Amino acid sequence: MKKYLMAFLLFANLCCDAQQAGKHVEIPPMPNGKVWKDTKGNPINAHGGGLLAHNGIYYWFGEIKKGKTWLVPDQQWEDYRVPAGGVSCYSSEDMHTWKYEGIALPSVTGNAKHDLDTSKVIERPKVIYNKRTKKFVMWMHVDANDYSYSQAGVAVSDKPAGPYTYLGSVKPNGQMSRDITLYKDDDEKAYIIYASESNKTMQVCLLSDDYLSPTTSYTRITSAINREAPAVFKYNKKYYLITSDCTGWSPNPATFAVADSLLGEWTQGGDPCTGTGAETTFQSQSTYVLPMPGQPNTFLFMADRWNKTNLEDSRYIWLPLQMVNGKPVIKWVDK
Ligand code: GAL
Repeated sequence: MKKYLMAFLLFANLCCDAQQAGKHVEIPPMPNGKVWKDTKGNPINAHGGGLLAHNGIYYWFGEIKKGKTWLVPDQQWEDYRVPAGGVSCYSSEDMHTWKYEGIALPSVTGNAKHDLDTSKVIERPKVIYNKRTKKFVMWMHVDANDYSYSQAGVAVSDKPAGPYTYLGSVKPNGQMSRDITLYKDDDEKAYIIYASESNKTMQVCLLSDDYLSPTTSYTRITSAINREAPAVFKYNKKYYLITSDCTGWSPNPATFAVADSLLGEWTQGGDPCTGTGAETTFQSQSTYVLPMPGQPNTFLFMADRWNKTNLEDSRYIWLPLQMVNGKPVIKWVDK
């Protein structure tokens, strides 16, 4: 018995040393909806996020949700909030073992006029790389607690994991900008895609060559229903846009739209999710879609399973998205 205990203690000690030295440690597969941990064993805190693939490394950026959740009084919807915690970054070579890189863009304390003050909203950060300027550019949704500010914020860095320097925020072409994503096309042109006009339209706006400001080229995607949580990808020269309905932190069905050009006509396509749970996007909300390297028909669909009364405890749902007869199909898998 004593021998086994000694062996166990030695093993536990080795694991601990490996973690402290930042070496590879065995991490269980990422079970959807369970707490996911980084290489140090801490819960991954990167919500409403996106991935950047750069020089063989994946960087995961997301909202830091930390602290007590409270309900903003006198709102028309369940406006649950935590202090705006800035943007975190994790890195991985295998999309499975995630190393915490630190806070890529910190929030600001005690300056209520600043976009990044902890009293505000910093959501859905995404990062792309500009080959010409050699800068990493982050766009995000910045807002007031009641969502009346509705602006797109931009930050820049020389290194993928940051730190990022905040440059300010805009209403692109005078248009409201809430839930946002960022897309870089094969021709190096980049676009922001954001919920606008009180979520009645999604808009796509071409960015300047340095990716730091919106141009006047933009399009309004209208549909019968309000949309949020945009995620864009390209397949066989067509563009696909997955969005959610607008029910705050509560899940709802996803839909997709398809277009021949990002600024072109978008056609509504229906619900990409199928099987039990499809009607709530498997209790989650879209945030990003990443092409899987070496698997031309397969994408990674990233979504958030929000815990509205304890936002810090929100979870991640990553599912395979398969293109079948020109349509995206998302099915549940356990991990
Ligand atoms: C969601 C939106 C989230 C967050 C939330 C607040 O629908 O997609 O990013 O803003 O509303 O209620």
